[in-house]
Amino acid sequence: MADRVVLAYSGGLDTSVAIGWIAEQTGAEVIACAVDVGQDGEDLEVIRERALACGAVEAEVADARQEFADDYCLPALKADALYMDRYPLVSALSRPPIVKHLVAAARKHGASVVSHGSTGKGNDQVRFEVGITNLAPDLTCIAPVRDLALTRDKAIEYAEAHELPIDVTKKSPYSIDQNVWGRAVETGFLEDIWNGPIEDVYAYTQDPNVPRAADEVVITFAAGAPVAIDGQPVTMLEAIQQLNARAGAQGVGRLDMVEDRLVGIKSREVYEAPGAIALITAHQELANVTVERDLARFGRGVSQRWTELVYDGLWFSPLRRALSGFLDELNASVSGEVRMTLQGGRAVVTGRRSEESLYDFSMATYDTGDTFDQSLAKGFVDLWGLPSKMAAARDLRSGRSVG
Ligand code: ARG
Repeated sequence: MADRVVLAYSGGLDTSVAIGWIAEQTGAEVIACAVDVGQDGEDLEVIRERALACGAVEAEVADARQEFADDYCLPALKADALYMDRYPLVSALSRPPIVKHLVAAARKHGASVVSHGSTGKGNDQVRFEVGITNLAPDLTCIAPVRDLALTRDKAIEYAEAHELPIDVTKKSPYSIDQNVWGRAVETGFLEDIWNGPIEDVYAYTQDPNVPRAADEVVITFAAGAPVAIDGQPVTMLEAIQQLNARAGAQGVGRLDMVEDRLVGIKSREVYEAPGAIALITAHQELANVTVERDLARFGRGVSQRWTELVYDGLWFSPLRRALSGFLDELNASVSGEVRMTLQGGRAVVTGRRSEESLYDFSMATYDTGDTFDQSLAKGFVDLWGLPSKMAAARDLRSGRSVG
């Protein structure tokens, strides 16, 4: 039997051409595998048929939206995961579930090789290949753009010469990756980092500068997960979808940044993630109210490490798993409601309430009803400052500056 290769298939130009390209260059049979992580494109059946028309011997499609939301976006929300304090890991989060489906397809069809459409310059090649070797060490990986010289010009030429059922003129000037957690846009005129993004770049969000009425939303969380919006029960997937629509309509979640890639270069990225940013904003504030101080402080370091591991393609690593366990524990008390105003590109928290609240009005108030015993503070301040007071006195004696 000929070697079989499972290809991560998007239905777009590059991976459509890759089907025939891999077959020609390696002599293998190609099995296309399309995974729906909420990219909201064409119907999966249309994509399946296109794969077969482009020469795939088999085509698998998987609706992984629920799984992506519950098993990947939710842990990211529990971590308030923002790489470089801004990017909600949109593409990074989608690779592990895609990898799982690729490996399952490889097993089902007896393939020994898995293939993806990433270039040799980005993070995604790392996420795919490290993920695959983690889940299935016996499989090897091949990336036609990187390993078989499938350039963009050659792809267009090939699609035309072979009359592939794909409109090459539809190819966007940008490199776009999108899923329900957000959308990433790269390349084209954005590669000049002085060029501002134009409206044309965006698809999930409206222009935040257009005046429109504010939208007020109440999100209910249970143990870190959104469970209702304005009192109506939602799944994680529905919460993201509904907030993508509502926060997106107010221009929330646009980002323009220069990012440190794992491969060592800096790259210009434009993102839009209205649902993710609205959810993270609400979740962070509810955690401020319900998580004990030391746990919260320590948790911020854990979140950052978790985020970097996921960005760096180490989703299936033991450390990522262990830190997720910690974050589940941290989120045990993150239950309650957050009210937010969505307007002008911002999600602003205006209220919070929770049975798990550690905010105690009688301890915090400066008005009547104050139960905080201020007489205790004096001794606390003295002892708190004692070690550095003694060190400072010693340093002055020794002629060193303490300033
Ligand atoms: N730089 C981002 C990341 O590494 C986004 C990559 C998006 N991929 C793309 N083909 N546009 O997660």
